[in-house]
Amino acid sequence: MNWKLSIAIWLGVSGYLGTLPSCSPNSSSPDRVYEQKADSILKLMTLEEKIGQLSLFTSDWDVTGPVINNNYKQLIKEGKAGAIFNAFSVDYVRSLQKVAVEESRLKIPLLFGYDVIHGHKTIFPIPLAQSCTWDMESIEKSERIAASEATAEGINWTFSPMVDISRDPRWGRVMEGSGEDVWLGSSIAAARVKGFQGDNLADPNTLLACVKHFAAYGAPEAGRDYNTVDMSQQSLFENYLPPYKAAIDAGVGSVMTSFNEIAGTPSTSNPWLLNELLRKKWGFKGLVVTDYTSINELIPHGVATDSAEAGMLAINAGVDMDMQGNIYNRHLIQLVKQQKVSKETIDNAVMRILVAKFKLGLFADPYRYCSNQREKTEVLTIENIAFARKFASKSCVLLKNQNQLLPLPITLNSVAVIGPLADAKQDMLGSWSAAGDGKRCISLLEGLKNTLNSETKIAYEIGCAVNDQSTAGFAKAVAAARGAQVVILALGETRDMSGEAASRSTISLPGVQQQLAEAIIKANPKTVVVLFNGRPLAIPELDSIAPAILETWFGGTEAGNGVADVLLGKYNPSGKLTMTFPRNVGQIPIYYNHKNTGRPIDPSKVEKYKSKYLDIANTPLYPFGYGLSYTTFDYSNAVLDKYEYTAEDTIVVRISVMNSGKFDGEEVVQLYVHDLVGEVTRPVKELKGFSKVLIPAGGSTTVTFKLTANDLRYYHSNMDYKFDPGQFEILVGTNSDQTKKVNFSIK
Ligand code: GLC
Repeated sequence: MNWKLSIAIWLGVSGYLGTLPSCSPNSSSPDRVYEQKADSILKLMTLEEKIGQLSLFTSDWDVTGPVINNNYKQLIKEGKAGAIFNAFSVDYVRSLQKVAVEESRLKIPLLFGYDVIHGHKTIFPIPLAQSCTWDMESIEKSERIAASEATAEGINWTFSPMVDISRDPRWGRVMEGSGEDVWLGSSIAAARVKGFQGDNLADPNTLLACVKHFAAYGAPEAGRDYNTVDMSQQSLFENYLPPYKAAIDAGVGSVMTSFNEIAGTPSTSNPWLLNELLRKKWGFKGLVVTDYTSINELIPHGVATDSAEAGMLAINAGVDMDMQGNIYNRHLIQLVKQQKVSKETIDNAVMRILVAKFKLGLFADPYRYCSNQREKTEVLTIENIAFARKFASKSCVLLKNQNQLLPLPITLNSVAVIGPLADAKQDMLGSWSAAGDGKRCISLLEGLKNTLNSETKIAYEIGCAVNDQSTAGFAKAVAAARGAQVVILALGETRDMSGEAASRSTISLPGVQQQLAEAIIKANPKTVVVLFNGRPLAIPELDSIAPAILETWFGGTEAGNGVADVLLGKYNPSGKLTMTFPRNVGQIPIYYNHKNTGRPIDPSKVEKYKSKYLDIANTPLYPFGYGLSYTTFDYSNAVLDKYEYTAEDTIVVRISVMNSGKFDGEEVVQLYVHDLVGEVTRPVKELKGFSKVLIPAGGSTTVTFKLTANDLRYYHSNMDYKFDPGQFEILVGTNSDQTKKVNFSIK
């Protein structure tokens, strides 16, 4: 391109720039300014250059999907790439950005995306673990830190938060979400977006977030990844869509379409989902990107005969950017010539991508995220590591603690640390740990050595592998158990047994771990089981023999230290399950906000013609909202300010909670509502609020909740979303099963 044109462009573009207006994700005026700037560039672009902006390619630094090509540098040079993902480090990003802004004709800077899912270099607990803290402030802070570290290494776009609700622990990606409840999942979605995007996307330490996977990816039949999703509109709107909407209301700048179909239409070619619901009804103005080659996958889905038709379906449905499929580059020019795709559709998609780049400040400074100084000083800092340790402790859920075996005294004479996860480091990262380095992770054994008194004798035996049938290691493990005052037995899954393409048909302890537990507990009844896993496990046999069980998930870089702090009483566990633990896989889907059915069982009676199994109870092993503490909390009765309301009233609920134990402790007081009669059947309870309170030993506090008629709305059979007057029940308590109930009516 001649130098005059390039100067004209930069004067034209930079002439608008001046100082970048603050661009809070929700503000409207800078959007118009950015749209004007983007339009000035759009007018200069050829159709091929426009289409180039709609293509996203992976570098060959990391592999997150089935297709990889390494000609992405040539594509950048030819103006056929609008963004690159799986590339980071300042020098590498700068080298690629240099090709875009110095060697392509129009010098349009690139977006650099990455899956920053639970930390960048400092890895935090997996998102499912984080959700068990019910701590929005910590969740938001973890994303703030992740954004700071990722942008310090050249990244400006994260494919996160993943907000897919799931009721099926066979599905491997439950590790990546926030469990089974939409109300909690929506709160967490908003917190994550705010953490990533901050108040101004142009700040060099904020990331463009991308809510995924739109939509209902977490409801595949049989829990098998990528499988068919088919449900009623009511269930889709009641139980799966709210967290995506919460992310959009929080100002998320991009949306990723999901691999799955919903009732016959793949999300990547669903004009109702994208153009109608997402853009028109919800008012989303950001960019829509596909998941990895999900346009290409419209062919095996059986809705497109070839890649040209697939590209046409996707762009006309509202998909702006093609991740790794290279379909837009190959077919859109011809589709425009054939008038199967309008130039307006292309221009609208390009505008949304250019506006995102303006919001990030990339036109003002394409190297804004390329600071070698920041890379040296803002990654894996002492503060970030300290936060990760505390977050790992907060994510733990105490499932059982018979006779107060926990916490263990720091002055233990001897302890045997046994099991396949006892000295695992890489596994502490969990799945989707992106740039995390397993060698930097603290294993449980290392964490105990760091925390126990130096005089404590520590024996270590692996006992068995995670997932094989050999019991050859049992004898040494049993001997170590016999010789110790206490045993800490670390069991569970490897990090690769959850995450993408990692569904399991059974969710029991893998291999011979249950047999190891039986042998160890028989040898030494003072055995604490520590679980490392990426999904709820069906462990009734373990629960029946283990005196204490601590669920720790995969706690990230500081997992071992964080878990040791809990085991040794430095932190009193406060986690509460956000996903139901089934008794066995046959109960799935099992979740707390279920319907009553016409033949609900009465647990106090034995009746044949009721909704039940012949061989197992209906109840879960551990319910939603469940988690113990080292102390005990006693609840008073829930009281209301009155018992008959109008639709305009605020319902005020009060309950007192006393810490009747010896330890200061945090309690997540949960509020559920049961709409006793609806125009359609209603769940037996729905989470509508919680309050996490710290109560000193012997102290008490009164928690107040306020509800309005808006909180009681639901989708009617005609899909009207509204509230009905009638009879309601409030349930307040320490988990979804143990609650104090009080009734009220609204006229
Ligand atoms: C993967 C995942 C998606 C991720 C993308 C890019 O297939 O489904 O969550 O963001 O590819 O890595």
